[in-house]
Amino acid sequence: MLKHTLTGCALLVAASFSQAVEAPKVPIHLPTPKAGQYVHQAPTLADLEASNLHPELKAVIRRGYDLFMNTQQLRGRHVFNEMSCKSCHMGEGRKLWSGPIWPAATTLPDYRGKNQHVNSLEERIAGCFSFSMNGTPPAYGSDDMLALTAYHQWLAKSAPVYEKNLAGRGFSDLEKPAQTPDYQRGQAVYAQACALCHGADGQGQKVAGKVVYPPLWGDYSYNWGAGMTRIFTSATFIHRNMPLSQPGRLSVQEAWDVALYINSQERPQDPRYTGDAQETRQKYFNFHKHTRYGTEHEGRILGQHSNTGEKPFLKPEVLRPRTFNATPTPDA
Ligand code: HEC
Ligand code: HEC
Repeated sequence: MLKHTLTGCALLVAASFSQAVEAPKVPIHLPTPKAGQYVHQAPTLADLEASNLHPELKAVIRRGYDLFMNTQQLRGRHVFNEMSCKSCHMGEGRKLWSGPIWPAATTLPDYRGKNQHVNSLEERIAGCFSFSMNGTPPAYGSDDMLALTAYHQWLAKSAPVYEKNLAGRGFSDLEKPAQTPDYQRGQAVYAQACALCHGADGQGQKVAGKVVYPPLWGDYSYNWGAGMTRIFTSATFIHRNMPLSQPGRLSVQEAWDVALYINSQERPQDPRYTGDAQETRQKYFNFHKHTRYGTEHEGRILGQHSNTGEKPFLKPEVLRPRTFNATPTPDA
């Protein structure tokens, strides 16, 4: 495993980090909810303690919160990189414009284009395990899966079911840039605004073996099938959330440029790999038309390799295709 070192400068940032997370500065500029959109106030853990839910349910939800915030505890079993769920779903998965997770609890089961069938909440969570965590989910129905779904469901408390006009959901609606995103410009933004925390080599930083700044590329980052590899997705995430506690510091153009830069670097293989990145790109073109996977960069085809990172397999079992069978299965 790579050793991560801290520069003096970054150490200062690390010291103020926990403070920054507890008391984030007032956002510089974030979008305002559109007229008619539902704006959700997700409950906190303090609300949970104060609620009259059954003590055992509270324990399950607390466990889900703990797994969400420190998913590294599943490292080597379900997680094969240095991500935790909260690395991308910031503010405990509650925050608008930071990929709040509760909408999955109110809009699923639903049809998902990515895998072309109707998905449950467990399957949606499994998707982030398979791609963003470069891993494989805890078994459906297991204690850990129950805990994670319960945490999602708890955050959705009082939100309308199957309402899709939701403020601050996902990472997809950043304005288009004036100019085509550019690698060199992105590299300059990275050096100036990101490298301090995420490292000049994009490998993030650890303190006492704990991930403080997650990696943005390489073996310990999200894989080539992750939503974050789509330039529009990462540009939106970055513009609204990065640099940490300074959302809106980057211009729209800078966010697209640096998103392109990060996602032109190598990372673990897309679990849907057919053995040929260009072919896989074509097969999942609705997704990959937004990524650089299977395209040429500095004389190489991005993603044309068999490196699955730390993960000892390519494709988790949950990604096998399935179809809904409307005919009831006769009881055995
Ligand atoms: C590398 C970043 C990353 C990590 C780590 C990550 N996710 Fe995600 N997640 C995403 C992206 C990107 C989306 C899609 C957002 C969109 O639709 O615009 C998403 C979507 C979701 C959704 C659907 C939200 C909705 O609006 O319906 C859920 C639920 C979710 N993730 C749960 C998790 C869980 C649980 C973990 C940890 C096991 C996790 N994610 C880890 C990037 C990440
Ligand atoms: C002050 C430190 C800091 C700076 C500067 C910073 N980040 Fe981050 N970044 C973080 C932290 C911390 C997280 C994880 C959030 C968490 O765990 O609460 C993160 C998460 C991310 C993620 C999602 C998780 C992952 O590893 O893929 C991306 C993408 C990202 N940052 C990109 C950027 C970009 C691009 C810049 C520069 C414009 C930047 N960051 C600047 C601290 C920083």
